[in-house]
This record gives sequence, structure tokens and C-alpha cells, in this order.
Amino acid sequence: MALSTDEIRTQVTALGPWFHNLDLNGVMTAPDHFLGDYPRAKWNRFCHALPQDLCGRSVLDIGCNAGFYSLEMKRRGAARVVGIDFDKAYLRQARFAAAICGLDVEFRNMSVYDVASLGERFDIVLFMGVLYHLRHPLLALDLIREHVVGGSMLFQCMLRGSMQVEPIPADADFFDRRPFDRADYPKLHFIEHRYAHDPTNWWTPNRACVEAMLRSSGFEITSHPEDDVYLCRCAGAPAGEGAVYPARGR
Ligand SMILES: C[S@@+](CC[C@H](N)C(=O)[O-])C[C@H]1O[C@@H](n2cnc3c(N)ncnc32)[C@H](O)[C@@H]1O
Repeated sequence: MALSTDEIRTQVTALGPWFHNLDLNGVMTAPDHFLGDYPRAKWNRFCHALPQDLCGRSVLDIGCNAGFYSLEMKRRGAARVVGIDFDKAYLRQARFAAAICGLDVEFRNMSVYDVASLGERFDIVLFMGVLYHLRHPLLALDLIREHVVGGSMLFQCMLRGSMQVEPIPADADFFDRRPFDRADYPKLHFIEHRYAHDPTNWWTPNRACVEAMLRSSGFEITSHPEDDVYLCRCAGAPAGEGAVYPARGR
């Protein structure tokens, strides 16, 4: 799409506000982001975790927002990149950004809870910055593992509370309440109203919790390139019993 700088700026303003600070031919979409040059500055800290050459690979970007990571995957030569988000305003930004950059990404209006309807597994699934926005985070992880991860999953989550990870007893007596008082016990903090002025935040785990949630959903953590970023692959069926997804009898 050949637009002048002024035309791009006008469109960027009309499509705003932006969460991703993208460089669209010199026009920055969110230059005053509270996290700085986001997510470029963050990506620079863990971009080595994925292959530089993604030729022939397929990528699914869940909660793609304005498409920063989708565009980066395409720049690395991925054969097929699908970005999904349940927010149509963000998808309009993503489609505009891809057009300006001349990159072919398929953006679809879809919730993470509907990934089964894609009917396809992807070599790389990006699930970045979404888990804490979900009312049903474990269901989302279970669905992603069951239906769309064909290789690895790059995962990121806002973490709060203890960053310590120590061995936790696999079981305790009913009358023993002490494990729960440990700061490093896996804890998922529920946000009833808002956090960081954002009413779309529902849960924020501590580090032990996010790692346990990934394992419990059947993921093996293969690397941990940044504090809150994990590279995972599928490792057998999800652990645990009871009313798990997919349902299985005793
Ligand atoms: C904090 S942003 C993260 C964007 C991007 N993945 C990143 O890491 O920079 C969260 C994104 O998840 C999207 N989102 C929230 N709930 C979703 C859901 N149920 N299904 C799909 N996307 C969702 C939001 O619309 C938003 O674009």
C-alpha cells in the first residue's frame, strides 16, 4: 500500500489508540507507551529463542493485537502466519500495519476459546500477554495444547508475587495449612476490579504458578529466555484428574 507519511499518520490516528508501537514507514503508532518502545524493546531481549529462519514454518499468533509479533514472524520468512484476536479494533490496526509493511498475514477475529475451529496445528504458536486477560486461563492452555500446538509455543505472562521456585510437596495433610503460606507456593492472584487501571486483567500468577500451570496443561518448558517468557513443547497428556479437558473417565 503506497501512502504518503501524512496519509499514514492520519490513518494511524483514526485507528488508535494503539497498544503496539509499530514503525510504519517512520510513523510510530504508540510513541508514548508506558512501557517504552513496546513490544520492540521486550522482543529484543528474547528474539533469539526462535529460529532466525522460519522458512516453510507456520505460525499462529493468539491475541495478536496490532500484529507486532505476526509481522516479525513473517519477516523471518514464515510461510504462513495467522493472527487471531477477539478485538476487531486491534485487528483493523494489524491489517493496516501489514498492508503498509507489504507483509502477507492472515488476521482473523477469533477468541482463544475457539482455536479448535482453526482445524490446524502450527509449527509455532505465540501465546503472549493474553493468559492474565482470561477468565478461564487453564481452559485456554488446555485448548491450545489439544488443538493447535504442532511444535513449540512461545508464551509470556505478567507475573506478580514471588519469583522464587522451590520444590513443593506433591501432597499435604488436610490439616496442614503451612504450604499455602509460603510465598513461593504456586499462587494465582484474582483481580476482581482492575489492575494497572485495566479492567481486562483477571489473574496474575507468581512464577511457580505459571510454570505449574504450563506443566499441568501438558507443556514441557524447554527454555526460559526472559523473566516472564517461556518456550514450551507438548509433553504427553495434561496431568491431573477430575473434571479435566478433554474429558476422560477414570
Ligand atoms: C496485552 S495484549 C498482548 C498483545 C501481544 N500478544 C503482545 O504480547 O504484545 C492482549 C491481547 O489479547 C487479546 N485478547 C484478550 N482476550 C482474548 C481472547 N479471549 N481471545 C483472543 N484474544 C484475546 C486482546 O484483545 C489484546 O490484543
